[in-house]
Amino acid sequence: MAPVNSVIVCTSVHHGNTHVVAEAMASATGGWVLRPGDEAHEAIHNADVAGFGSGIFFGSHHRDLLQFAGSLNPVQGCGAFLFSTSGTGHRIPRLIGVDYHRKLRRILQRKGYTIVGEFDCRGFDTYGPWGRLGGIAKGHPNNTDLKRAFRFAHDLIHSE
Ligand SMILES: Cc1cc2nc3c(=O)[nH]c(=O)nc-3n(C[C@H](O)[C@H](O)[C@H](O)COP(=O)(O)O)c2cc1C
Repeated sequence: MAPVNSVIVCTSVHHGNTHVVAEAMASATGGWVLRPGDEAHEAIHNADVAGFGSGIFFGSHHRDLLQFAGSLNPVQGCGAFLFSTSGTGHRIPRLIGVDYHRKLRRILQRKGYTIVGEFDCRGFDTYGPWGRLGGIAKGHPNNTDLKRAFRFAHDLIHSE
């Protein structure tokens, strides 16, 4: 099987939560973790599969990542995966019809990417009132989250 060339683009500004997840994924894929910018543009151009992740801010990925995705050149069927960390995790909001990944997924699909997987886990959150209460999702991402992230990326790359 030919090696898969992968890159992970990550914005992680609140507590570095998503960066830790991105590194766990990169250790499974052998790819790079880059911030949105010129270097990431170049790397994506040469990649077989690209990952995009950040914390969730007011229900969507971070605006830097959304802007970056919006600035990508159109492609034909390249693989992309999404990931996020958030105070609540993605499962509970989805149960009530709130989709944290919706905006980023739509942008990438409009660019011609095929979404090959999505990952999320909780991340320590001290925003607003949560901060005054000591924060929520303390200790996340934890070892279990990181093992799941590794396994997710490993399985993706080995099914490509
Ligand atoms: C301004 C702000 C808005 C946030 N909005 C949400 C939200 O809508 N839903 C949620 O579950 N978490 C929310 N969070 C929590 C972050 O998504 C969570 O802490 C995430 O792990 C941060 O990732 P990072 O450390 O990689 O930046 C918010 C945090 C901040 C600071």
